[in-house]
Amino acid sequence: MDMSMPPAGLKSALFSDSGFSDQSRIQSLMEDIFRHSEDPMITLDDRVSVLSQVLYLMYLARARKASSIAEIGFSIGYSSIAFLESSPGAQVTSFEIHNEALAKSAKEFIDSRYPDRHHLIYGDSTHTVPAFEAPRSTDGFDLVFVDGAHEYPTVKADIANARRLARPGATIVVNSLTPWFKWGIGPTTAWDEAVRDGIVTPLEYVSNACAVSRIQGPVDRAWAVGQFQ
Ligand SMILES: C[S@@+](CC[C@H](N)C(=O)[O-])C[C@H]1O[C@@H](n2cnc3c(N)ncnc32)[C@H](O)[C@@H]1O
Repeated sequence: MDMSMPPAGLKSALFSDSGFSDQSRIQSLMEDIFRHSEDPMITLDDRVSVLSQVLYLMYLARARKASSIAEIGFSIGYSSIAFLESSPGAQVTSFEIHNEALAKSAKEFIDSRYPDRHHLIYGDSTHTVPAFEAPRSTDGFDLVFVDGAHEYPTVKADIANARRLARPGATIVVNSLTPWFKWGIGPTTAWDEAVRDGIVTPLEYVSNACAVSRIQGPVDRAWAVGQFQ
């Protein structure tokens, strides 16, 4: 991963950036999980924006004191690393449709590195999230990351279904608010509607690792952070 241009200067109103040692640790974990996958079909995404987002998610989970975290969309496991690195007590539940070599090897890596702290549920999130039964001992997820299917109806369902599994006032992050790309239209529309309908209150918008008052393109990556109502 070429990190000659470090993502130094993550800007957020929700936390302060903690610096270079976190960056190099997360970068090396991302490289390790990538190498572990040994999947000839994937290539290492070395965009600085990927590392920036993983760092952001780690700091956010830490700042929000999230100990029970859900993510829709596991893939190679980068965001799982972010959440599991946020605190030694963090427990992560991932929902992923593909039961394939990539997810399996990523799961193997995560389990070896973070034993008993990660739960992976395979299947279509529009079925698996509503069917999920949280342990009786918990009040619901503290933080939910919506990064699965990017089609509008699924993102809309994911936000609504995640809300039922989250504790009141929990934090939600919706990825890919990049409507200038085809895959960003669904998440952007679903997020805008959730705000309009009072399901979430926006806390922060992030565009290329910087907090912004309004996302404007084209940028590589942009996402929104909110609070469930
Ligand atoms: C952008 S990737 C997630 C990346 C991951 N959050 C990370 O940071 O490494 C999106 C993932 O969502 C999964 N996905 C797509 N549709 C889904 C669905 N309906 N239910 C669950 N997962 C889905 C895809 O298989 C893919 O692995």
